[in-house]
Amino acid sequence: MNRASFAFVGALGLAATAVFAAPPGPPPGPPPPYQMRPVAPTGDRLKPGRDGKVLFEVHCGYCHLTGGMGTNLLTKQQVMAGNSPDKGLLANRTDLTADYVKTVVRMGKGAMPQQTKVDLTDAELDAVAKYLGKAG
Ligand code: HEC
Repeated sequence: MNRASFAFVGALGLAATAVFAAPPGPPPGPPPPYQMRPVAPTGDRLKPGRDGKVLFEVHCGYCHLTGGMGTNLLTKQQVMAGNSPDKGLLANRTDLTADYVKTVVRMGKGAMPQQTKVDLTDAELDAVAKYLGKAG
């Protein structure tokens, strides 16, 4: 390597360090919504009649709120099907039935792992399915 190319490679290295070196610590600003996991509501997890929206945000939100991996994947599917990108959020869907939601949750679907009765009890799933199942 001659002197000029040596200097060139050195300059490239310096430039790469300047571009890729991130400052230490978390990025500034509040974390995205899917990372801000809400606190689970108190009360008997086996009793029916609890708030489906809150339960959805607690048990499904880390994948299905804005920025979550479920939302990202479903947004792509919805756009490819000709629907608007906001349909990537399950809460915006009007075509889901409660039965379909329950089946996907217990069986899993594609990249979504199945959710057990420990993740979400049957009573909790009923409430979540009622909240999401706007098509009946
Ligand atoms: C670990 C992340 C993760 C969790 C937790 C999760 N999901 Fe999902 N979910 C996904 C992904 C990813 C998909 C898209 C699967 C695919 O098509 O490959 C999906 C798909 C779905 C679908 C299907 C939508 C469609 O268009 O067919 C429903 C319904 C659903 N999730 C409901 C839920 C509910 C309700 C919960 C909470 C009990 C939940 N999910 C928890 C990742 C997750």
